[in-house]
Amino acid sequence: MSSTPRKGIHLSPATRRAILLAAVASALLLWGVVGVAGRQSGAPPRGDAPTPAEGGLTPSERRGKELYLRGTSAAGRDVLAYLGDASLEVPAATVTCGSCHGLHGEGKTEGAVVPGNLTWEILTKPYGHTHASGRKHQPFDDAALARAITKGVDPSGNRLASVMPRYDFTRDELADLTAYLKRLSADHDPGLNETTITVGSLLPTAGPQDELGRAMRAVIDSYFAEVNAQGGIYGRRVELRFGELKGGDARAQAERFLEREQVFAMTGGVMGGAEEELTRLAAEREVPVVGPFTLFPQTAAPLNRQVFYLFSGLEEQARALVDFAGEKSPDARSSAAALVYAEDDLPAGVGASVEQQFRKDGWKNVSVFKYRHESFDAARLAREASQTGVLLFLGSGAEEKALLAEAAKADWTPTVLLPGPLSGPEVFNAPAGFRQKIFLAFPSAPSDQTRAGVAEFSAFAERHQLPPRHLAAQLSAYCAAKILFEGLKRAGRDLSREKLIEALEGLYEFDTGLTPPITYGPNRRVGAAGAYVIAVDLTNRQFVPASKWITPS
Ligand code: HEC
Repeated sequence: MSSTPRKGIHLSPATRRAILLAAVASALLLWGVVGVAGRQSGAPPRGDAPTPAEGGLTPSERRGKELYLRGTSAAGRDVLAYLGDASLEVPAATVTCGSCHGLHGEGKTEGAVVPGNLTWEILTKPYGHTHASGRKHQPFDDAALARAITKGVDPSGNRLASVMPRYDFTRDELADLTAYLKRLSADHDPGLNETTITVGSLLPTAGPQDELGRAMRAVIDSYFAEVNAQGGIYGRRVELRFGELKGGDARAQAERFLEREQVFAMTGGVMGGAEEELTRLAAEREVPVVGPFTLFPQTAAPLNRQVFYLFSGLEEQARALVDFAGEKSPDARSSAAALVYAEDDLPAGVGASVEQQFRKDGWKNVSVFKYRHESFDAARLAREASQTGVLLFLGSGAEEKALLAEAAKADWTPTVLLPGPLSGPEVFNAPAGFRQKIFLAFPSAPSDQTRAGVAEFSAFAERHQLPPRHLAAQLSAYCAAKILFEGLKRAGRDLSREKLIEALEGLYEFDTGLTPPITYGPNRRVGAAGAYVIAVDLTNRQFVPASKWITPS
């Protein structure tokens, strides 16, 4: 493996811009490297309850925190709250403890009746407590706390003001909530103090992706160097910590990194092959992760609140292609379609979800062909699928090439649908019979919509002498850093992980300059959900826009 010097070859700004413009449209082809090449087959088995790290929360405390901050039960039960002397019933999620008593139970001072300090040290002061209102009570214990929360009385039997809701928590939920209240005052987010915010990124530094990892690192380093040079975020400097993914057990490496570095949030980074393990870890440790570079965003329910993706993954791109093909010609749906995919690469459920999209769109006749890389047989596939008019292929670039060659030999030239990131520049060498019949989906904007952003990135790359390679990964890291920065600014001076997540959830059509507008929400974790479809012009060897932005139905 040749190593590239940290400093790129010197290119003039104009040359760089020209390269970049071409790159934004086509560099996403390189995604295949990240998304698929590194996939591990089968996750290592693991126990379900992680042991808490030093300073981390136990599973029960974590469930309690969910109840405290969001009023949501780990069991998925709808918790209810009763307001105004129990006459009005509302979801507990709309009246959370944290919203009145503060994220850290510090209590609030405004208003006529004051939601007091809820830290365990205060609640259990040996001689009890006299409130400003004159209410006096003995120290709380677990049972007294439960009564206050469910019945609205304090340890001395005084009724609490009706502003304090009553909740219908189960015994287990009360135990979790109590466990958390005992930890509340010590539960400060790691990686944050008056002067610094520590941000981490996990990047591959060994193996086939090391150069890509270093290119992304250079972008993240440079981006936050500029943020710091301009005064940081509310006076806090961003300190970066980079973790290494060396191949092998990604979860264990990530875990060691989080324990060692105690970061506040993560940005960019690569998940290739370990999406499930890494996102689960982010949820367990409550680390917000913005813009990991992956083809397989984990968006299935229950929602992983911590991880915010930039782009649609392979599944959404494939579904956008199905929508596209169905709308391209009115009778397409009555023709037979073939869905062909490599089981080795696709996480469980992706193939089925794409098949489902065909059915949802009203396709009557869809044949599904699954294969494994080792037994891929292009000639046989071409024979077996030869009655179909539409082919959606989710396999490697080399397999795609072989399949199209065999198909042409057999005079079978269906409309071919391919997610761009899986395909390679080879697609331009497809047999002539596929002229005007090959369509690629891309999760990002075509270059004509990103001119200003490209100019901005180009100047940035020039200032920092970034290497000219791995542009798709660099652009992704750049946009991720930009979104994290925006989230941190919006979260405000009184920062916490929870506030960062809420600020990100509030992003609506945020313009990175290089991606479609980024929108997140309480139930949305893919910023630019959808894809563009681009036609492959075999004669002039170029991509031609074939659709508007498609958000799969
Ligand atoms: C709508 C605002 C609001 C919400 C939501 C709320 N509280 Fe309160 N809480 C109050 C107010 C106001 C008081 C003070 C009542 C009084 O002094 O009579 C209070 C009092 C308490 C007390 C008594 C403290 C003491 O020192 O006597 C406890 C315990 C408590 N709340 C726990 C909780 C928990 C746990 C939750 C979430 C499950 C919660 N509260 C949600 C407003 C709220």
